[in-house]
Amino acid sequence: MNKVILIAIISYLIGNFSSAYILGKVCKSKDIRKYGSGNAGATNALRVFGVKIGLISFILDILKGIIAVNIGNYFMGYNGALIAGVFVVIGHDWPVFLKFKGGKGIATSLGVMLYLHLPTAIICIAIGFTIIAITRYVSLGSIVATCLVPILGSVLKKPFDLNFFICTIILASMAIFRHRSNIKRLKNGEESKLGQEVN
Ligand code: G3P
Repeated sequence: MNKVILIAIISYLIGNFSSAYILGKVCKSKDIRKYGSGNAGATNALRVFGVKIGLISFILDILKGIIAVNIGNYFMGYNGALIAGVFVVIGHDWPVFLKFKGGKGIATSLGVMLYLHLPTAIICIAIGFTIIAITRYVSLGSIVATCLVPILGSVLKKPFDLNFFICTIILASMAIFRHRSNIKRLKNGEESKLGQEVN
């Protein structure tokens, strides 16, 4: 099989491992997508199931990003890692096993970026967490941090790498697309803050 297709399929399937959904089902017998914001992600797991499950879900989602890019790199080097990075997030956001109703891809994108370009990832994490600490809007911190990745990445990563830039633009675009409802709520002042019940 063509290596690109193989990486895309493996990464997509890794992305399908929805930790927030699985932990919710196994530990609480609940489908996370029916509670809180309805998102199968770490923020909603924190909101609905508490700190422990939220944190484990966050770590597992980061890990699957890291695992996928390592597999991509194994088969095809850095460009393979870029392909894996895009497809593991697609798998997380639109998992076939959950009828395409998954998460928003932030923690998984973070795992991908930690591997692709560590300095960019660290700066974006710092900015994202600062925004979250100040505003208590996880979505705002997530969107800003993800959108900064292509900009900062193309400045900091030398020499400029067009494939890396395209990959980060795709990751940022998917993050914005998946946060459409959050953006609407932020505009209307209706977004739930960290520690608050969802509106
Ligand atoms: O990473 C997801 C976060 O940015 C927003 O999650 O559940 O508040 O829509 P949620």
